[in-house]
Amino acid sequence: RVAMTALLQRPADIIAKPQAAHHPKIPLPRDLFAPERRNSRGVEFGERAALDHLLAEIAAEPTDLTPIADATPEQANAAVAAARTGFAAWSRTSAGTRAAALEQAAHLLEQRAPHFIALLQREGGKTLDDALSELREAADFCRYYAAQGRKLFGTAEAMPGPTGESNVLTLRGRGVFVAISPWNFPLAIFLGQVTAALMAGNSVVAKPAEQTPRIAREAVRLLHEAGVPANALHLVTGDGRIGAVLTAHSDIAGVVFTGSTEVARTINRTLAAKDGPIVPLIAETGGINAMIADATALPEQVTDDVVTSAFRSAGQRCSALRLLFVQEDVADRMIEMIAGAARELKIGNPSDVATHIGPVIDNEAKQRLDAHIARMKTEARLHFAGSAPAGCFVAPHIFELADAGKLTEEVFGPVLHVVRYRAEHLERILAAIARTGYGLTLGVHSRIDDTVDAIVERLSVGNVYVNRNMIGAVVGVQPFGGNGLSGTGPKAGGPHYLARFATEQTVTINT
Ligand code: SER
Repeated sequence: RVAMTALLQRPADIIAKPQAAHHPKIPLPRDLFAPERRNSRGVEFGERAALDHLLAEIAAEPTDLTPIADATPEQANAAVAAARTGFAAWSRTSAGTRAAALEQAAHLLEQRAPHFIALLQREGGKTLDDALSELREAADFCRYYAAQGRKLFGTAEAMPGPTGESNVLTLRGRGVFVAISPWNFPLAIFLGQVTAALMAGNSVVAKPAEQTPRIAREAVRLLHEAGVPANALHLVTGDGRIGAVLTAHSDIAGVVFTGSTEVARTINRTLAAKDGPIVPLIAETGGINAMIADATALPEQVTDDVVTSAFRSAGQRCSALRLLFVQEDVADRMIEMIAGAARELKIGNPSDVATHIGPVIDNEAKQRLDAHIARMKTEARLHFAGSAPAGCFVAPHIFELADAGKLTEEVFGPVLHVVRYRAEHLERILAAIARTGYGLTLGVHSRIDDTVDAIVERLSVGNVYVNRNMIGAVVGVQPFGGNGLSGTGPKAGGPHYLARFATEQTVTINT
């Protein structure tokens, strides 16, 4: 168990845990994705024994994959009604009580790591590396929001005022929050949304993606066990139709959503069309994320970061790189190196530790990606096509586009599009990136500070990564979320997130 806990720890104890110092530090298997760490038999880990122990525990985990029935509209409505009742008591609990439940949830998550990793692999198709980092992120969300919540909701803030008058500002829950989450982070984003809403004093009706309801069910059970009352948190399973029932309900006080821009708009319209109080929407959506690599960038580092950003998690991250701009002078060499590294990636069974890329989420996703790849083969220059086993797998592809305008929508898979640019035309590509209207992540590889500054200044993008990869935002370190078509803000895992789940009240007393 100690070994397991150590595997889950961050290299630097970013989310402070008092017991952390007593555990031996073991290098995380997050480097699984770095090809240079692989030996001839698979992957060289700093601590093989801990990994073997974990793998045995995961393999021994029973996983119930029997289908879960979709909720009926009546059940969805009943869940909102029950959450309405649950709100009354939960909103009156102290911030400390709510934070303690979240902290206990983080603890239970870590204790049951093999169980959740097995589920993430078997239901979500996650590689071990991805499952581990997702579990860590989920626990981080619980602890971070608990810590933020204690500060924000724990004490009323005294405001300055004239003598003889007291002014106090307090934050409290809004009511029933509907949380609609995606399949690509079925544990971390699910728990991130739910714990933020709960910490702010709301009750929650959570509707996970229809592809990953079992992980959500386990997460809800865990929160109930950790101290969240049953009627403060309800799970409603089903597809977008059941989400539509929830968002149209007259008794909800807020919606937090992660998914496509199109669905975010639909929810926004539904909320706007309702009579009664104005219901806020917190939305995190997609992006056509770009990286710019100029001729001063380190080619090896660019290669590593491009491969990680574009292909890790089978490209199924909203942060993933879709559009790489390479300065013409170094483009041939850079593309060759990236293709060479992509050739080394192993695609297949996510339970095999040597696997870099697991399956895409379902057949529909595969068909969409296959159709895009087929179209690109006629419209763009193919530089690399990996090979994938039969089944729900999509191999990495690298295409070169004549111009960035050819990519008009987010392609949610391991397909990298490359565009060459001339140094004197940098402004043109910045304009092209701005024209997409998205603003989620941006990568910049350059050793010229002025270039970096000019790019960062010019583009309104939520998360900018300079001279590193552009995925895997860490809770409390890289608050995550985009601008424009990419979302409403505020950023998940950031200091301003919880307040948006709350109402504020100022009380002025003439003393
Ligand atoms: N938060 C994830 C990341 O940063 C994206 O979904 O990769």
